[in-house]
Amino acid sequence: MPQQHIEFDVRKIREDFPILSRQLNGEQLVYLDNAATSQTPIQVIDVISDYYKNYNSNIHRGVHSLSQEATNKYENSRQKVQSHFNAKFPHEIIFTSGTTDAINLVAHGFETILNENDEVIVSALEHHSNIVPWQMLCEKTGAVLRVIPMNEEGELVLSEYDKLLSDKTKLVFVNHISNALGTINPIERIIEKAHGVGAAILIDGAQACPHIRPDVLALDVDFYVASAHKMCGPTGVGVLYGKEKWLNTLPPYQGGGEMISEVTFEKTTYADLPHKFEAGTPHVCGVIAYGAAIDYLNGIGFENIQQHEKELLTYATEQLTAIEGLRIYGPTKNKTSVISFNINGIHPYDIGTILDKMGIAVRTGHHCAQPIMDYYKIPGTVRASFSFYNTLDEIDKLVSGVKKAKAMLS
Ligand code: ALA
Repeated sequence: MPQQHIEFDVRKIREDFPILSRQLNGEQLVYLDNAATSQTPIQVIDVISDYYKNYNSNIHRGVHSLSQEATNKYENSRQKVQSHFNAKFPHEIIFTSGTTDAINLVAHGFETILNENDEVIVSALEHHSNIVPWQMLCEKTGAVLRVIPMNEEGELVLSEYDKLLSDKTKLVFVNHISNALGTINPIERIIEKAHGVGAAILIDGAQACPHIRPDVLALDVDFYVASAHKMCGPTGVGVLYGKEKWLNTLPPYQGGGEMISEVTFEKTTYADLPHKFEAGTPHVCGVIAYGAAIDYLNGIGFENIQQHEKELLTYATEQLTAIEGLRIYGPTKNKTSVISFNINGIHPYDIGTILDKMGIAVRTGHHCAQPIMDYYKIPGTVRASFSFYNTLDEIDKLVSGVKKAKAMLS
């Protein structure tokens, strides 16, 4: 077994996560479903608790001190996200209920912009949340959906992408990292090519942000979306980064309080960014906790996170590949923190169920990415996904669990 890094003390980091010491089905929990949601450190849990104990109140509305305290902390989180993503302005950061909500916001905005002469491009590696909203947009506008194909390695075929691009292309949507396979897509090239034909581009960063710090300015991306709950933050909070010019162009997504400038029965005018896109009472506590989660991740350091997770991925890949009959899908070298696999003749659900009995949490099924499963002609996979708080010892438990499951089910 390789040595753990001395400067990165995973044992100490694990003490921050109360859930990691719990038992599951009488066994020590081995949590390997981080691509579905990450666990929450005590530093973030304390922020949530502090909010409800000490200053729970609505924001942007009250003259009273509690409301002002909550408003300041909420807006402070916006600045943290701005700085973390390296956006130019805080008002380019819109808080949503998650990545799905952020994508739907953009798709809704383009309803008034696209028409039947336009084309939009999506990739074969997308999560359903970066497919279905665009299909719905195409149904409403008559625009045509084109798909960048994938190959056996789980990579996008970029030569085909180049062929799909034309002056008809108005929008391109690609994930930064595939949730089902872990492929890291070459988004710099994909963005540059989209801009080359004058198209706007949205990058789904839901799976990337736990592992990579995106630099939206350097990427020159038009929209970048992510979820707090995959970044050690709470569920129910997401972020849409949009270039100011695009956010000013798109119409509001939802009508309601706080997104208006003036309301009369004759005409309503809308608030400036970012409030135009944040109708109703937002997830105040969740956004504040998201800021704390970003602080926490930066405290660990993304270089440390990447180095440790690479070690986990390399070790797990070697160990699992040695099991006869086990196939890893999307074996591209350019991947992170996800291993999707099957064992000859055994349904992934059965392996997942047996692993659960051993305290090992993995996801099984199509992972909301049915086109990828269709490509490989399989109903689904077993997916083990890693975080910086996982250990090599946990990989050993996974491998031993998979071997036992194989013996039981063969
Ligand atoms: N998108 C999440 C996953 O991949 C839920 O599991």
